[in-house]
Amino acid sequence: MLKIAPSILAADFLHLADDVEIVNKYADIFHLDIMDGTFVPNISFGFPVVEAISKVAEKPLDAHLMIVEPWKYVERFASVGVSMLSFHYEAALDKTNETLSLIRSFGMKAGLVINPDVPVETLFPYLGEVDYVLLMSVFAGFGGQKFIESTYGRIARLKERIESEGLDIPIEVDGGVSPANAGALEEVGAGILVAGSSVFRAEDPEAAIKAMRQRI
Ligand code: DX5
Ligand code: ZN
Repeated sequence: MLKIAPSILAADFLHLADDVEIVNKYADIFHLDIMDGTFVPNISFGFPVVEAISKVAEKPLDAHLMIVEPWKYVERFASVGVSMLSFHYEAALDKTNETLSLIRSFGMKAGLVINPDVPVETLFPYLGEVDYVLLMSVFAGFGGQKFIESTYGRIARLKERIESEGLDIPIEVDGGVSPANAGALEEVGAGILVAGSSVFRAEDPEAAIKAMRQRI
């Protein structure tokens, strides 16, 4: 079943409890964007915010690391209650395998992410070592960007490969996702949809989440 993961980056930080409640009530996963100002040209939030959410979260925490040297922070994210941890292949390169197994060694699900300019085939050698894959449908760094249409073909190619290997790995899609494209994304093989602006900037976040679950 399709899972909806609202991105806290687009939440109202002054009234964070209200937005956390929306995820608890209507969505499936908390998507937490961690940016370091070096891997991406933006800084988001860190452990104090993740920990505060963790204390009241009734849904799994999925942290998306957009940081250099992601392996350095794996243990720390485990200790604040994150159960799905993903990092960018571009930030790890030859340390990808060891970072994936480090994440799993703490009992978390390990996810591997690529930006839209990285060939989807880059993920193929790692499919046996990941619990989910994350395809960026915008360039990592900022919320509110326009969805990149070539993502559909990338999802389909990745899905085909996953199935041909007899694996069951959900494909998460992140960036510019809304009720307008959710159905088509699910159709080509997406299993988890990350949505920031289209949920938290919507007049009715509950309705936006529900609309994304319906195939259009
Ligand atoms: C971008 C982040 C996304 C972002 C999505 O670097 O990884 O999770 O918050 O925001 P929207 O849904 O507004 O594109
Ligand atoms: Zn993200």
